[in-house]
Order: sequence, then C-alpha cells, then structure tokens
Amino acid sequence: MQVDKQLIGRRGELAVVAEFLDSLANGPGALVIEGEPGIGKTTLWHEGLHRARARSLRTLSCRPTGAEVQLSFAALGDLVGGVLSETRSNIPTPQMRALEAALLLAEVEGPAPDQRAVALGVLSVLRALSSAGTVLLAIDDAQWLDEPTAGVVQFALRRLDRDRVGLLTTQRVDQEARVLLDLARTLEVDRIRLGPLSLGAIHDLLYHRLGASPPRPTLARIHDASGGNPFLALELGRALHDRGGQWTPDQALPVPTGLRELVSLRMKPLPARTRGTLLVVAALSQPTVALVKSASGAAHQVLLDLQRASRAGVIEQEDDRLRFTHPLLGSVLYSQGHNGPTAPATQAPRGGADRPRGAGQASSTSRARTRSRRGCRPRRCRQKGERKRRPGRRGGPVGTGPHTDA
Ligand SMILES: Nc1ncnc2c1ncn2[C@@H]1O[C@H](COP(=O)(O)OP(=O)(O)OP(=O)(O)O)[C@@H](O)[C@H]1O
Ligand SMILES: [Mg+2]
Repeated sequence: MQVDKQLIGRRGELAVVAEFLDSLANGPGALVIEGEPGIGKTTLWHEGLHRARARSLRTLSCRPTGAEVQLSFAALGDLVGGVLSETRSNIPTPQMRALEAALLLAEVEGPAPDQRAVALGVLSVLRALSSAGTVLLAIDDAQWLDEPTAGVVQFALRRLDRDRVGLLTTQRVDQEARVLLDLARTLEVDRIRLGPLSLGAIHDLLYHRLGASPPRPTLARIHDASGGNPFLALELGRALHDRGGQWTPDQALPVPTGLRELVSLRMKPLPARTRGTLLVVAALSQPTVALVKSASGAAHQVLLDLQRASRAGVIEQEDDRLRFTHPLLGSVLYSQGHNGPTAPATQAPRGGADRPRGAGQASSTSRARTRSRRGCRPRRCRQKGERKRRPGRRGGPVGTGPHTDA
C-alpha cells in the first residue's frame, strides 16, 4: 500500500473485518461499513480487500459512482465480467447468454435479457467460484449501484446456502442501499458504523499526508472543526499548511462552517477559468482530457487549467483519464456550480457514458459534521430481523469503550 494511503487507527474496526473474512469459510455473510461522507469508509474497505487477497480469497470488486447509477449493469460488468470465461462450463447456456447480453459482451436479438436469467447466472458464477475457495464480493458505495445490478446481486446473495461467499460493502448513512434491503432475512449482516478519528489519529494523518505536524493548538482546532472527519481534517490541514509551507498562526485559523465553504477555499487560489474547466470535469461521469477539451473549446487553455488544478492537488491524471483527488471535491463543486451563478459557459456533452452527474450525488457535510460532533463511535450492530450469530463468532459491539485510534 502506498504511504499516503496508509490506514491510520481503526484497529477495532480492522479486527471486525478480519473476523468477518475468516468467518466466510463457514458460510455466507455480509459486512457493511457505513458512515458520513469522508469518514473513511473506502479506506477501510480497501484495507479489507487487501487483507482478503492476502488470505487468498477470490475478490470480485466494483466502485460505482453516482454518475453510473443510471447505466444498467455497469457495476455487474466490473464484478463478474472478468470471470465469465473461467466459469463458463458451470453456467447453463441460457444464463450465460443472458449474462453476456446484460454485459454487452454479445449481440442481443429480440427483447432485453431476462433479469431472472441474469440473476441465476450470477448465482451460478458465485457457486462455481466458491467451490474452489472463498469468494468476496466487494462493493464500495453500494448506494450508487445501478438498479439492475443491485437487483441481481441481491437475488443471488439471498439464495446462497452454505456457499463460501461474502459481501463487503460501504454505504453512506443517508439511506439503505437497495442491494442490502431485506438481505438480513436470509444472510447474516454485520455493520460497522465509522465514528470520528481521535486527535492522535488526525495528527498522524496530517503528518503522513502533508509531511508536517501542526502545532498542538492548531491540531486541536482542526480536530474540533472537522469533528474527527479525516476528509475534512485533511482539507483544513491543506488550507492552513499550503501558505508558504508554514502553519497559519492559531489565532488566524479560518474555520469553514461546512464542506461547501471548504471546497470554495480550496478552489479560491485557482483562476475563474480553471474553476470553470473543473466544473466540466465534475459534470462528466468518465472525464478524459479529450472530452474536457471537446466540451470546453479552447484546447490549449484547458491543458493549462488541468495542469494548474493537478498542481493544486485537486485532480489527478492517469493516461487520458481525469479524476478528482477525492470524489467529494467533484460532487460539491458540481452542486455549487450547478446551482450557483458561477457555472461556466461551456457545456459538458450529455448522454451515454458521459451523462452529467445527478444532483443527488452532491453532498452536504455540515449535516455530517453535526452528526460527527455528536460523537458517533465505531460500533458493530445487528440489522433488524437479523439471524442469530453463528456459534464461534466473537460477540460484542466494537468501540463501545474508549476509541482505539490513537
Ligand atoms: N483511517 C484512515 N487512515 C488514513 N487515511 C484516512 C483514513 N480514513 C480516511 N482517510 C483519508 O481521508 C479521506 C477520506 O476517506 P474515504 O475516501 O475513505 O472516505 P469515505 O467515507 O469513503 O468518503 P465518501 O463517503 O465520500 O466515499 C481520504 O483521503 C482517505 O485517504
Ligand atoms: Mg468512499
């Protein structure tokens, strides 16, 4: 794992993840990591995935984005597209045909693929793989799974018997993701609710990511203002540390009241033109340099804008593909530009894979911060109507005692 993505703290939560992974040898189960935006769900999920691979579990993963929620079976392609050929001999022909049609791997004649055949196909794939070892379905941001994928994955999970298949997923706290609805009737579902990081953990995070420790009073104010939310703490830390590499004196610490203000602060040093180009990036579901150039017109200027934004740590470029250094930057920027008067004159292309984001993807974190301040502690709780714990599973909620991040 890269140094800058190193997991800090969360020892109790990691123990729950490890226990969950081990339990899958006895039969199916699900673990949901949930919490407010930026609290560290993906980071823990990623570590879980890493540990699953280290234990030789077969991992099938996907990370849907809000922009893909409208694209049928977009996530299913990421999950099972790569294992169809090796499981082909175990999948009845009608199911395989339906799967290939759903994933656009074959020409479809006649009506759209039958959802039930696709769902049974997914079940056959999972059973075929799990006959050789434990399989982990890992879905980051389950709330953004497209409906058809959520439906067929849920169908398959509910029909598992003693198959060694697990689901490790994250979701924001706002609402239960479709794939998880009613799952607890047939499957053991455990949850980790991520709470704030401790002062010590926020110190370590700033030190690792910014390469410098803030003076203690500044650290305390960052911790307080962010409510222990690592994303907010990092953004605040960046805002305070970037000015000439020095920490802003404590008295002068501007404390943004929410993510919108924080993102504005992050964008402020960038020229208006660059912010406009970033808004185009935010409006594309799969932004590339070529697409942004074609949407914005002035190609040379766009390249300068992208370089500038990249130097400011707002976006990253990999080959031609662009992405925000954190999805929240893009979604907040988009919601601000979309609703506010600063939207650029340029228009992102619409339709197909490059549909602009839905407004629902925008996140407000003043609410999140309020929740965080109320002191959500990490805990593992059982979903209503959940089956009894299997014998041999360690009981007791995690983190009801003192926080173990420091
Ligand atoms: N325990 C941690 N150790 C180190 N870095 C962390 C930790 N938790 C979060 N971070 C950092 O904080 C930022 C936000 O974390 P992450 O993306 O995991 O949050 P999230 O809950 O998945 O957010 P979202 O709801 O937007 O998906 C990232 O830059 C991540 O690297
Ligand atoms: Mg995330």
